Amino acid sequence: MLKLCDVSKKYKEKNALNHVSLTFRTGIYGLLGPNGAGKSTMMNIITGNLLPDNGYVAWKEKDIRTLGADYRSILGYAPQQQGLYDSFTGRRFLSYMAALKGISKKEMPGELARVLACVNMEEAADQAIGAYSGGMKQRLLIAQAIMGSPELIVLDEPTAGLDPKERVRKYKGPGRGQNNPGIHSRGIRHRAHCRRNYHDPLRKHHRSGHSGGAYGQI
Ligand SMILES: Nc1ncnc2c1ncn2[C@@H]1O[C@H](COP(=O)(O)OP(=O)(O)OP(=O)(O)O)[C@@H](O)[C@H]1O
Ligand SMILES: [Mg+2]
Repeated sequence: MLKLCDVSKKYKEKNALNHVSLTFRTGIYGLLGPNGAGKSTMMNIITGNLLPDNGYVAWKEKDIRTLGADYRSILGYAPQQQGLYDSFTGRRFLSYMAALKGISKKEMPGELARVLACVNMEEAADQAIGAYSGGMKQRLLIAQAIMGSPELIVLDEPTAGLDPKERVRKYKGPGRGQNNPGIHSRGIRHRAHCRRNYHDPLRKHHRSGHSGGAYGQI
């Protein structure tokens, strides 16, 4: 279980998050909100890339700041901004990320094949990332986030740039954590499409709507 406890974050005078408390239990959660609502800020705080000004994040009742590397080892994160090395091939980038995640050399080929298949990138795996389209880069970021089957997967705007076929594939495809929280964000402009059909026990957050439901329903 992941908890945000009274989390606030300001950028100079700009309040990005204002005393946010949330609990994410097993399942998939979508963060819906307009541009600038604070979704990426929240995800950066959840993933430990940004420190809150107030409050803390707890994983299984422990402050993530005290968990350090143990927390990073259970976390998969695809950021909104695509900071990728253009000269690497997709496969080399994934190998690099696999090494950082502590995946053994023996397991690596099988794991790379699994995540590449999940995002339908087997054929492009040996091309340079610089030659990828925006959607292909996005799929590579999703592939590295699900590598090693992390307990907690955080995807920031994962479907931005994906064509409709790949959106459906990502939602229905394998590779997601089945018994743990998963969080992804989406701009409010897609709200009607992505909110259809699912219940929302968690709709209580400043300026962003938050909803929980089965993976296939989001
Ligand atoms: N590094 C920064 N420096 C200053 N202000 C920032 C910074 N990052 C975010 N902000 C501001 O904080 C607010 C929240 O930004 P954030 O990126 O978290 O929103 P978001 O919900 O992810 O938006 P989007 O849908 O556009 O991705 C915005 O007003 C933004 O301008
Ligand atoms: Mg964002």
